Amino acid sequence: MLKIGVLVSGGGSNLQAIIDKIEAGYIKDVSIATVVSSKADAFALERAKMHRIPGTCILKKSFNNIDEYDQALIEHFEENNVGLVVMAGFMSILGERFNRHFEKRVINIHPSLIPAFCGKGFYGIIPHEHVLTAGLKVTGATVHFVELEADTGPIILQKAVKVEEDDTPEILQKRVMEQAEWEILPEAIKLFAENRLVIEGKRVKILN
Ligand code: GRF
Repeated sequence: MLKIGVLVSGGGSNLQAIIDKIEAGYIKDVSIATVVSSKADAFALERAKMHRIPGTCILKKSFNNIDEYDQALIEHFEENNVGLVVMAGFMSILGERFNRHFEKRVINIHPSLIPAFCGKGFYGIIPHEHVLTAGLKVTGATVHFVELEADTGPIILQKAVKVEEDDTPEILQKRVMEQAEWEILPEAIKLFAENRLVIEGKRVKILN
């Protein structure tokens, strides 16, 4: 059984997508051991509670520095025997210690087709605003392994989503979540759980 730890900060719609795919039996031999929020009022914690999944809040400001924050998260995930950390709408930055400890065992969902509109300052609705400003016809979402530098790790899955004429950033964000994020994040977890992801340098090979 692969135990996963999910890092959240907001509404938790990606967490919900993972929960739904596990409960539907699409993702097998995986359980969510713990949900950790960087914000005390994240609705994602309510979603965890409704599904009897342990949820907790670990606030970066409670620690003297990023190293202590990393250590607190490492200890929490180790106590819960977590084998894969999933960042699902997580807005805090993790440090070197965390990334070294969980190397190649942290994945993240990003709301654009990396390398477009990613890295520092590109989160939440912001990538969608840039897509519309740039007049792009296609955008999407990316699931990638996490490395120290934001949004740069090997890409696992991407899914493209059409931009419509009358899109606003909010409408586009919702479509990208519905048509891309909520599908490829659970899929990446399933592939990881089935040991079908092989990292070769910057590339990820998916075994059949
Ligand atoms: C999503 O667009 C996700 O891609 C981004 O944060 C947004 C909120 O995600 N990282 P959620 O509803 O909290 O899962």
